[in-house]
Amino acid sequence: MTDDPVRATDLTLLEQAALLSGADVWETRPIPRLGVPAIWMSDGPHGLRKQESDADHLGLGQSEPAVCYPTAATIGNTWDEDLATELGKALGREAAAKGVQMLLGPGLNIKRSPLGGRNFEYLSEDPELAGRMAAAYVRGIQSEGVAATPKHFAVNSQELRRLVSDSVLDERTLRELYLTGFEIVVRESAPWAIMSAYNLVNGTYAHENAHLLTDILRGEWGFDGVVVSDWGGSNDPVAAAAAGGTLEMPFPGFASVRALVSAVENGTLAASDLQARVDEILTLTRRVNPRETSVVVDDDAHHALARRAAAEGIVLLRNESDILPLAPATRVALVGAFADAPRYQGAGSSVVNPTRLTNLRDAIAETPLALAGYAPGYRPDGTTDDGLLAEAARLAGGADVAVVALAIPDADESEGRDRPHLRLPQAQIDALRAVAGSGTPVVAVLAGGGPVEMPWLGDTAALLHTYLGGQAGAEAVWDVVTGAVNPGGRLAETLPVEAGDTPASWAFPSDHRTAEYREGLYVGYRYSTSAGVAPAFPFGFGLSYTRFAYSELALTESEASFTVTNIGDTAGSDVAQLYVARTSPSPVYRPARELKGFAKVRLAAGESTRVSLPFGERAFRFFDVRTSGWEVEEGDYEILVGPNSADLPLRATRHLDGTVPAGHGDPALAAYAAADVCQLPDAAFAALLGRAVPEREWISPPFDRNTPLDQLRRSPSRLVRFAFGFVERAKRRADAQSYPDITMAFIFTAPLRTLDKLTMGTFSPVFTDAVMSIADGRVIRGLAAAVRAFLGGRRADRRTRRQVARASGSDA
Ligand code: BGC
Repeated sequence: MTDDPVRATDLTLLEQAALLSGADVWETRPIPRLGVPAIWMSDGPHGLRKQESDADHLGLGQSEPAVCYPTAATIGNTWDEDLATELGKALGREAAAKGVQMLLGPGLNIKRSPLGGRNFEYLSEDPELAGRMAAAYVRGIQSEGVAATPKHFAVNSQELRRLVSDSVLDERTLRELYLTGFEIVVRESAPWAIMSAYNLVNGTYAHENAHLLTDILRGEWGFDGVVVSDWGGSNDPVAAAAAGGTLEMPFPGFASVRALVSAVENGTLAASDLQARVDEILTLTRRVNPRETSVVVDDDAHHALARRAAAEGIVLLRNESDILPLAPATRVALVGAFADAPRYQGAGSSVVNPTRLTNLRDAIAETPLALAGYAPGYRPDGTTDDGLLAEAARLAGGADVAVVALAIPDADESEGRDRPHLRLPQAQIDALRAVAGSGTPVVAVLAGGGPVEMPWLGDTAALLHTYLGGQAGAEAVWDVVTGAVNPGGRLAETLPVEAGDTPASWAFPSDHRTAEYREGLYVGYRYSTSAGVAPAFPFGFGLSYTRFAYSELALTESEASFTVTNIGDTAGSDVAQLYVARTSPSPVYRPARELKGFAKVRLAAGESTRVSLPFGERAFRFFDVRTSGWEVEEGDYEILVGPNSADLPLRATRHLDGTVPAGHGDPALAAYAAADVCQLPDAAFAALLGRAVPEREWISPPFDRNTPLDQLRRSPSRLVRFAFGFVERAKRRADAQSYPDITMAFIFTAPLRTLDKLTMGTFSPVFTDAVMSIADGRVIRGLAAAVRAFLGGRRADRRTRRQVARASGSDA
């Protein structure tokens, strides 16, 4: 053998086809005769979830212990790219030490609605922030020889029906809001892999969407890596290979291999497309570390990093009379069951089995504070108990300060489900109010990966939103409460007063076949600043124990520069933010302002620094659907600089030469120009889409491979409807549990194709076809076909397995 790298053309057609799907839950297929190794993948957005046995992709089976870092929502609040790179490096090292060559993260979908069930795993509502932070993670992970896999590409912003939901949106919103973060990641960190989303985008599954994968990702942005499907997210392997989708995960049985071989043989798939995908996998095997490395991990150092990151991500939202930081020896009444059983990560495939875990109750012992006592205040299941309330109030009455632990319950934050509302359980609010009633000032410490409504805010003297702090989250809270760390977290999302203040939430999550992104660009602060709807706390906001002043804005062609001064008496950090607002009239609607630059600034007391933020190529562009390209519109733009999206004291105007958009200004889009997008009529959305609004419902029967299971309730067969009744009851029971049953949520709305895609070869696509006949009412004929398909599928798979093994020199 020569040293030339193995190319697709060195493989037989069967080997090529076999390389495009996983060998099991976490590995690609090796080709021993050519020395092509298998690649091991693990979840890893905020810690490694390496499973050996009990493998599953929903976080149910136990995984090897690993450091549980704060989740992406927390790290988004740091706005600190250096920290994200450090975290990426730590994750990369841990992966390398465990023989993991590809980490399935970071997640950077746009937080379209605060109700998104997986928002805790995502970085921001803004693509500039999400993209830059994700790129920083990727650089760190890949510097350790481990592939990063930014996910989920793209427009995967709701959990309900995620395997069948079709995200319907206009091209401009797609480009400017939902793709820009991915564009930044690809252009600025060159990830070796990317994970396609489960959902469809404008009618085509993301993993086989040529517009997304070939035209944009590979064509425009130059991505040269592997596009891996989300687990069970591949639909048609031939369509995927043709459209730029590389690898189907997990092992879907050998039907995909046979389908790819026949498609090349009968000319429905170009051999060059298959080979391009194979070369992408071969390149990946050369880019990553070998499985065996000598990397060792310093557990203590990684725990310390987790603690620092958690502290940096905490956002101080309120601090009346500067009650924080607490002085040494302050007598603290600690209230709240979550002070004992912390919420520190969300549920689902990202779940990490932590190497250690602290809680507020134990970790206070390491501080100079004096613990006056602990009282649970409310039951962990969210029920109010008068006895617990009285006990908490009594305890607080005898202390200097009450620290009350509040949290979004586990059940409300999970992959596979969206949040039903933004309220905290009443029992927690009752406890907070009972404690406040004692007259002792309350410091509320809120855990959870997103916003909550805060009608109780006035009962607090201070509020820390810790987001989900990972295994060292409790230590980080005390670091901030005692002033060992001056809070530097700034919100990476808008905290609305209530869910209804966000336009997407009017129809969120969509329980239909389509999820219509009617609000267009009006997500988060883009909406609140345009529509004049005041949030509870604006995007970019966060208090510090010191104060900063902004002055002397100067603009050049290429950058804005200004001075930031720490005018308080303690060292601290701020995030200087630059927004752009178009001021000349335009036929193209625009949000009032958009984030185009930021810098984390750390200053000693009294210190000043000059900050320069370059206008990159994204600063003034908009996507012109008439020219199908990015344009800069001629006219005036205001540059706004300051500490958050609602407080931008420095302003200056720039005139830009550019294009004059033609063919815009449809009067049907008036509602968009006025940011009046909460309950838009079909006509306005159709005008934005540039086509009719697609059918919203499933037309079944007849059933097809992508009809969700819960549509079986409409089967013409009484037997099927009767059987489905059991599933429905099981789902209701699962929904009533306090810890989310993700499997049930997954199964209930999964497309029928998961019968063959997610059963590791037990069932074949022909078997799924037989089940569809049963669902369509042809019960007897369908049952007979199912038995035949089951036996035939097993035989065919055994045969293909042997052929692949023989060809590639691996074990059968
Ligand atoms: C999730 C992915 C994850 C994969 C593997 C899926 O359910 O959506 O984010 O990487 O499982 O665990």
